[in-house]
Amino acid sequence: MASTNRDTGPEALRPHPDLERYYAGGEQGRRAFVRDIFDSTAGDYDRVERMMAFGTGTWYRRRALERAGLKTGMRVLDVAMGTGLVAREAVALVGSPDLVTGLDPSAGMMRQALRSLTTPVVLGFGEQAPCRDAVFDFLSMGYALRHLSDLTVTFREFHRVLKPGGRVCILEMTPPRAGLGRVLLRLYVRGIIPVLTRLTTRHANTAFLWQYFWDTMETCVPPAQVLDALRAAGFTDASRYVELGMFSEYTGTKSAS
Ligand SMILES: C[S@@+](CC[C@H](N)C(=O)[O-])C[C@H]1O[C@@H](n2cnc3c(N)ncnc32)[C@H](O)[C@@H]1O
Repeated sequence: MASTNRDTGPEALRPHPDLERYYAGGEQGRRAFVRDIFDSTAGDYDRVERMMAFGTGTWYRRRALERAGLKTGMRVLDVAMGTGLVAREAVALVGSPDLVTGLDPSAGMMRQALRSLTTPVVLGFGEQAPCRDAVFDFLSMGYALRHLSDLTVTFREFHRVLKPGGRVCILEMTPPRAGLGRVLLRLYVRGIIPVLTRLTTRHANTAFLWQYFWDTMETCVPPAQVLDALRAAGFTDASRYVELGMFSEYTGTKSAS
């Protein structure tokens, strides 16, 4: 399932192989596709996310950040901030919007986030965060692991921008590997959600986005490889907590010395 990324080197760990149904041109084609699809569907994202998670997404994100150790006064980098669903909860927990910086390559998603958030934001990729070394106490990334070009490079970057003792918290959906749970989830994400979004949203790409989500989830590297990549980047106590059998929370600590 894992494959070498010829654009970034032999140690690279791509989250999933190329999905030629959606884009051509290897890594460059994938990056352009991902940026375009998020830019064009940004106005629909929150509505569809609420529909998909039955309105629990906000509550769940906050609980996950708390579980990972986010506390008042911490300085946070929220990678892949999107429309700000994780960043908003982080602001509530740390106590000030000035302490949370959002990072995302999609100007469309960022514009949506800034409708209700006053946090500093940076346009950029998680793989090359335009941030100084060792400035954050906590780094979050919600539902974007599958959109990275290379987990090895990105996790090293996360390690670089965290202070010693800093924590990383990566949220991702990991469908059950087999069985009825997987069949039902596939039907829901790849079948029912796209139909509902076609009926209720503005942009045709929104339905397509959820099909793409499922296909990336289905072909994503297994959790053990994500944990290995975190350890290889220097995170100690890398671990995975699973909620409801499919919401994975990967955490780790940058050692204090
Ligand atoms: C599914 S949305 C998740 C948004 C938000 N974190 C949440 O929990 O709802 C994925 C986001 O990842 C961003 N993204 C895609 N590729 C990225 C990359 N290489 N580095 C950082 N963010 C990326 C997209 O622009 C999009 O805003």
